[in-house]
Amino acid sequence: MPELKHLRRIRSFVKREGRITTRQQTALATLWKDYGIDFSRQPLDLDQVFGRSAPRNLEIGFGKGEAIINMAEAHPEEDFLGIEVFQPGAGQVLALAKEKGLGNIRVIIKDAVEVLENQICDQSLERVYLFFPDPWHKRKHKKRRILNSSFTELLARKIKHQGHFFLATDWADYAHQMINVLDASPYFANTMSSGHYAIRNPRRPLTKYERRGHRLGHQVWDLDFVRIPHISGKLSSNLHQISSNPNKPSKPE
Ligand SMILES: C[S@@+](CC[C@H](N)C(=O)[O-])C[C@H]1O[C@@H](n2cnc3c(N)ncnc32)[C@H](O)[C@@H]1O
Repeated sequence: MPELKHLRRIRSFVKREGRITTRQQTALATLWKDYGIDFSRQPLDLDQVFGRSAPRNLEIGFGKGEAIINMAEAHPEEDFLGIEVFQPGAGQVLALAKEKGLGNIRVIIKDAVEVLENQICDQSLERVYLFFPDPWHKRKHKKRRILNSSFTELLARKIKHQGHFFLATDWADYAHQMINVLDASPYFANTMSSGHYAIRNPRRPLTKYERRGHRLGHQVWDLDFVRIPHISGKLSSNLHQISSNPNKPSKPE
C-alpha cells in the first residue's frame, strides 16, 4: 500500500465552539482519566487500554454519542473506541458511560485522520462505523468530505481481514460517492453486490441526524463493506465467493 503521509490536509470539520453544558464540562474534567485517551503519535496498545483482548469497534465522528453508547451497552463483550472533534459530544459520552457503568468504551478528541495515522495499529479493528458524516453538500465544499479514496486506504490498513466498514448517510450524492469509492477499492468488497446498498444496520439507533434527514424528506442509505485481501484490477464484489475462500478471492471481472 502506498505511503499515506501528507495525503490529506483538507479537514472534514470546522472547529465549532458550540454550547457545552455543565454536565458535559464536569464529565470531561472528572471522567477523562477513566474514559479519555490523549492524542499522541505513539501507537496505542488497545489490549492495555481496555484491560482485555476483545473485538474492537471504532466509531468515527460520534457526535453526541447515541450510537456508540447504544452499541457499547448492547455488546459488553466487545470494546468501543470513539473519535470526535466536538468536545461537548465527548463530554456527553463520558457522562453517559459513567451513568450506565460501561467499561468497554474510550474516547479520543482529535481529527480521526490523525488518530488513525498515528495511534491505531494496522489490522487492529473488527468494525468501523461512519454514520451520517458531515455532508458538505455545496459543490465547493465537497472536497471536505471525510470519505474519499485516501481515507478508504487508510481504513483498509486498520481494519482486520474480514472486518467490516459500515456507513450511513441521508444525502443521496454522498451515498453515491461512498458506494463508488468503496466499490472501486481493491481492499473492500460490498456485502450486497457492487452498486447495492445494505439493509439498515441493526446496530445503528435512530439519531438526531437521521431524524433531521427524515424531516427533510431524505431517504437513508446504509452501506456494509468487508475488508478483503487486496485484489488488483477491478474488484468483483461477490462476498459469497470471497468469504468462501478468503485467501483466493474471485478474479476481477
Ligand atoms: C453530522 S455529525 C453526525 C454525528 C453522529 N455520527 C450521528 O450520526 O449522530 C458528524 C460528526 O463528525 C464529526 N467529525 C467530522 N470530521 C471529523 C474528523 N475528521 N474526526 C473526528 N470527528 C469528525 C463532527 O464533529 C460531527 O460531530
